[in-house]
Amino acid sequence: MRLIKVKNYEDMSQKVAEMMMEKIRESNKINLGLATGGTPKGTYKKLVEAYEKKTISFQHVTTFNLDEYVGLAPNDPNSYHYYMNESLFDHVDIQTSNTYIPNGIAEDLKEECVQYDHLIKISGGIDLQILGIGQNGHIGFNEPGTSFESGTHIVKLDESTINANARYFNRLHDVPTHAVTMGIQSILQSKEIILMVSGEEKSNALQRLLNGEVTEDFPASALKNHPNVYIIADEKALSSVFVS
Ligand code: GLP
Repeated sequence: MRLIKVKNYEDMSQKVAEMMMEKIRESNKINLGLATGGTPKGTYKKLVEAYEKKTISFQHVTTFNLDEYVGLAPNDPNSYHYYMNESLFDHVDIQTSNTYIPNGIAEDLKEECVQYDHLIKISGGIDLQILGIGQNGHIGFNEPGTSFESGTHIVKLDESTINANARYFNRLHDVPTHAVTMGIQSILQSKEIILMVSGEEKSNALQRLLNGEVTEDFPASALKNHPNVYIIADEKALSSVFVS
């Protein structure tokens, strides 16, 4: 894992957008793995700004999102479908048919999971995966205890994740209890991974990731088994971290 230190959220967003654009520009066809949550919002904003300045095109880009809440329809403002349309897809020239997000209202959710992994595989795999991290070390919605061998699957969300994500919902009660998420193995199959970490509330997780052991109790630690991971972290996220 290579750590890149940046000053703040703005700089992290700029840096990651630049890294993504470099990859997009140097390829004729690219599969991006995308994340949601507060962390990548600024990066998507930078990508939209670059598109508006005509310095980037998404016509040859295919995207696979990490996860979706079970039970939320794509037009639900709290769904990750809605988030992606609003934050990125509606504002750039990506072809809608090239954007994939797990379907949280699929009739057969288990089959949806199998098909999602299959789709990623037949599309040639993910070239660059963007990740955020939960305070408990989750990546995607892979909660502590998730097998490192896992493919896309249905998860019951930890109470701490429900509480942390409640800030995006009107009421705590509205936060779904389950989600569909790409598994740890699905994530590790990406050729390159960028983990974004910003803010003091993530500093303990970052400390554990950088200095702790590899264990299924801390899902992000699986990234240590991947040869090509960049961590872009800001000063607040690094505030509990001892780095030389
Ligand atoms: C959410 C998402 C993750 C995200 C993480 C952190 O539950 N499923 O993909 O990385 O938690 O979210 P945030 O960036 O809002 O802190």
